[in-house]
Amino acid sequence: MEVVPLTTAEQVAVLAADVIEAQVRRTPAAVLGLATGSTPLPTYRELIRRHRAGAGPSYDEVRCFNLDEYVGLPPGHEQSYLVTIARELTDGLGIDPGRVHGPDPDEDRLATAGERYESLIVGAGGVDVQLLGIGSDGHLAFNEPGSSLASLTRLKTLTAQTRADNARFFGSLEKVPRHVLTQGLGTILRARHLLLIATGAGKAEAVAAAVEGPVSASCPASVLQLHRHATVLLDEPAAAALA
Ligand code: F6R
Repeated sequence: MEVVPLTTAEQVAVLAADVIEAQVRRTPAAVLGLATGSTPLPTYRELIRRHRAGAGPSYDEVRCFNLDEYVGLPPGHEQSYLVTIARELTDGLGIDPGRVHGPDPDEDRLATAGERYESLIVGAGGVDVQLLGIGSDGHLAFNEPGSSLASLTRLKTLTAQTRADNARFFGSLEKVPRHVLTQGLGTILRARHLLLIATGAGKAEAVAAAVEGPVSASCPASVLQLHRHATVLLDEPAAAALA
């Protein structure tokens, strides 16, 4: 694992954007794995800024796969991760919505949603670079502590803590869905390059556990230690608990 301690969150965003752009320049039909949440937003803004300035690569052939999706929101809901990623990134890069995928939250077909999403990713040739954020409890995507290190895309019940954390996006706790579909840790490990970004003091303990602690389901992000090509970009506060 390559750990890159930087100073500011802007530097993290610039370097993460460099990694993603380099992948798309090398492989114009790259498969990008995308995360939602607040951490990637500066990276997404930087990619869009470069694209609009004519400095970025063409994203016409790129395909994108989101890490996770809420279950129980009406289609097109502004907090659905498919809508969020279009708003925050892919529309701004001119990527056709048909090339952006997430787990299918249709409640009539939930039983097969995990398997269908795994097949879709495999059919696209697998993810070239997977951008990841980390939860303050070490979660990756919606794989909370205790998740199997070999898990694949599946339905999960959100913990009370994660629902409370995400209430800020929904205006109130009652509106936060109780279930999600999430890529598993095993799914994430299949990506060819994992790019974890973490900023802010609130992530320092989780980052230290993920990078320096034992590989354990009690810190899902510690699976990065099992991957042959994992990069961790940190601002100074997020790196503060590293030895
Ligand atoms: C996002 C995701 C989550 C977030 C994590 C950190 O698709 O799956 O694991 O990466 O909760 O969220 P932020 O970046 O908002 O601190």
